[in-house]
Amino acid sequence: MKDLGNYRKSYEKSELLETNIPEDPINLFNKWFHETEDFGGVDEVNAMTVSTIGLDGFPKSRVVLLKKFNEEGFIFYTNYDSEKGQAIANNPNVCLSFFWPSIERQVIIKGIAEKTSDIISDNYFNSRPDGSKLGAMASPQSQVIPNRDFLENNLKELEEQFEGKEIPRPSNWGGYLVKPQEVEFWQGRPNRLHDRIRYQFQDDFSWKIVRLSS
Ligand SMILES: Cc1cc2nc3c(=O)[nH]c(=O)nc-3n(C[C@H](O)[C@H](O)[C@H](O)COP(=O)(O)O)c2cc1C
Repeated sequence: MKDLGNYRKSYEKSELLETNIPEDPINLFNKWFHETEDFGGVDEVNAMTVSTIGLDGFPKSRVVLLKKFNEEGFIFYTNYDSEKGQAIANNPNVCLSFFWPSIERQVIIKGIAEKTSDIISDNYFNSRPDGSKLGAMASPQSQVIPNRDFLENNLKELEEQFEGKEIPRPSNWGGYLVKPQEVEFWQGRPNRLHDRIRYQFQDDFSWKIVRLSS
């Protein structure tokens, strides 16, 4: 293994300048997301780290898939009874982060999570393949289980129960909409003088834009 201290890279792919950014962070996120897709080299551009403050007082981060974003915020789907679901029920303040190494970018979003409406969750659930629908039903996410067979057997029973029938969305499964309060864009630059631009949501619904030191 290489000495980790010797991992070092000069970031030279792009820049982020105040003269060239929109007033709204969602527009910049949209631009960066599509540029990253086009640039290539990131397998799941929509994979993001979601950090929550747990009931035990510790932060916890895990990867989930961003399924939609618009001017309201960022949506992902999960099990509401999972560890993250319980954490959000207790404290809706969350942090989402994206690392797109091929284009040397990071985006960090602090926001407030709320459950999406039943209609939004139903529409997304119904768009999934049957295997994923039953998988969501078969798995008590984040619970301790005796072994893998427990999951496989649950799935088999559900496959028999729902053969030829419509599969309803479990009431403990659905989306969260994260409404952004602060969005930071990080673009790697040479000599560790990276670009960091932060948008902060204001009481008058505008966004304050500042540059942070790298
Ligand atoms: C690439 C990737 C994508 C994932 N997407 C999701 C997702 O969209 N929803 C989800 O609940 N878990 C997803 N997971 C699993 C989560 O990382 C995590 O294991 C699970 O949500 C349970 O987390 P919790 O116990 O902290 O609540 C994904 C994992 C990876 C590595």
